[in-house]
Amino acid sequence: MKLVLASKNKKKLAEMNDILSHLGVEVCSEAEAGVDVEVEETGTTFEENSLLKARAVMEASGLPAIADDSGLCVDALNGAPGVYSARYGGPGLDDPGRVRLLLENMRGQMPRTCRFVSVITCCFPNGDVLSARGECEGTVAFTPMGEGGFGYDPVFVVEGGKTFAELTAEEKDAVSHRGAALRKLKAALRETLEGAKEC
Ligand code: IMP
Repeated sequence: MKLVLASKNKKKLAEMNDILSHLGVEVCSEAEAGVDVEVEETGTTFEENSLLKARAVMEASGLPAIADDSGLCVDALNGAPGVYSARYGGPGLDDPGRVRLLLENMRGQMPRTCRFVSVITCCFPNGDVLSARGECEGTVAFTPMGEGGFGYDPVFVVEGGKTFAELTAEEKDAVSHRGAALRKLKAALRETLEGAKEC
């Protein structure tokens, strides 16, 4: 089965193929499916935005589509940046700028507990929808550490004291929100595929 990924992010494409290829599922890019969909993320939850993205790409391509909506939720900031993680501080900021803004907003704040959340949704042309949520608990570092990853990875400290940016891709996948959501979704997809074979 082929799933079209509702994202231009090559890292997400590789991560999804790594985990789902064992099921005989191939995840391809929007470009490979011949679509280029801009989705306005108007939802207020990860679930809503994930569904909006997967449904839009499924409708445009006519193929089953998969989308991830994710972000960092910080307790001392009442869950911010949350679903606005990619847009935190406005369009003028890049990843390092958003990390600097987060550290400024966290100055003097306690506790520094936070979690990454990922909701992955699959939409099928027959109307079926599968969705899975993964979370990873951590704390906000006082200063960025590590060179790997992307986004808020340099300031997200996981159990053991390292930031996501200090882990290898395999180490991050094993504990990350996206890894957890993908593994749950993989189990649901396996059931769906086996059910389809039996019919
Ligand atoms: P989305 O692509 O609209 O779901 O935006 C997710 C945003 O959340 C990204 O731009 C990052 O800022 C942040 N984010 C989500 N997952 C991660 C991660 O694994 N590491 C670092 N930042 C992440």
